[in-house]
Amino acid sequence: MVQSTRRIAATRSFASSAYRQKSALVTGAVQGLGEAIARRLADDGYKVVIADVQDGQPLADEIKGEFVKTDVADPKQVQAAVAHVVAAYGSLDALVNNAGVVGSEALLGDYDIEEWRRIIDINLNGVFYGLKYGLKQMLRQETGGSIVNMSSTAGFRGLINLGPYTAAKFAIRGITRAAAVEYGNNNIRVNAIAPTGCETPMVKNFIEQSPDPALSHSSLTGYHAIPALPQARDVADACSFLLSDQARYITGHTLPVDAGALCRIANAPERFN
Ligand SMILES: NC(=O)c1ccc[n+]([C@@H]2O[C@H](COP(=O)([O-])OP(=O)(O)OC[C@H]3O[C@@H](n4cnc5c(N)ncnc54)[C@H](O)[C@@H]3O)[C@@H](O)[C@H]2O)c1
Repeated sequence: MVQSTRRIAATRSFASSAYRQKSALVTGAVQGLGEAIARRLADDGYKVVIADVQDGQPLADEIKGEFVKTDVADPKQVQAAVAHVVAAYGSLDALVNNAGVVGSEALLGDYDIEEWRRIIDINLNGVFYGLKYGLKQMLRQETGGSIVNMSSTAGFRGLINLGPYTAAKFAIRGITRAAAVEYGNNNIRVNAIAPTGCETPMVKNFIEQSPDPALSHSSLTGYHAIPALPQARDVADACSFLLSDQARYITGHTLPVDAGALCRIANAPERFN
């Protein structure tokens, strides 16, 4: 009974909060999907704070937001980034745990242990640190908040030579569900996005550095029901929707932006696809 009263109170204040400017923290927002998300959220009316290891000041100036140099693999730096948003804008309304790296390619039996740790530190532990400090802050706010974590279609199927990346992206779907059920009664929603290969610097580098770039490109588009690579803005649109009140009863889900790739059976003979 106490819980349901709190939910109603939070929902009401969330409605009135539509009139104040909201703030958003986006990690890994200097380029690629994160940049598109930061730009989209600024267009949506958020004050956006960019957290990245690269210099994000020019982009922050452009979108009238702020930049905090942040390595998401360091919990103290993530905590400081969250504190920066609150100091600047009074609350943390939206958090996008986007930063990620693909890592070296090798079969698991040959995978370098230090490289495994680096990939898990950035891709998975970085998301955990964002959740840890972001959720704590949102809990203090009657208005709650909304979080989107960046998974991947690699979080639904095994990728050859990218074991730690695959493991992290599966785990992000899991931690998204755990956070959703832990905090759903506090007006906090947590979802994830699973893009297929999009036209971003990360994917362009991945294709160019692979042993057979033409094969890598065709293998990326080959399993798409829509035979093309989505653009970063397609992922930004999905993120904007999940963060918004339009998605107020959607939590714990991973939304593929995959051109239909996950509808197909990977590596199956053509007649099954
Ligand atoms: N591009 C795709 O097609 C695709 C597909 C599926 C999932 N993803 C995921 O989307 C996210 C963004 O990918 P992208 O393609 O835009 O990559 P990208 O390499 O173009 O950009 C990644 C950004 O993250 C930043 N970054 C890297 N390590 C960081 C760290 N330790 N701390 C803070 N920032 C860091 C980089 O400086 C860069 O600005 C990643 O999590 C990636 O796994 C991308």
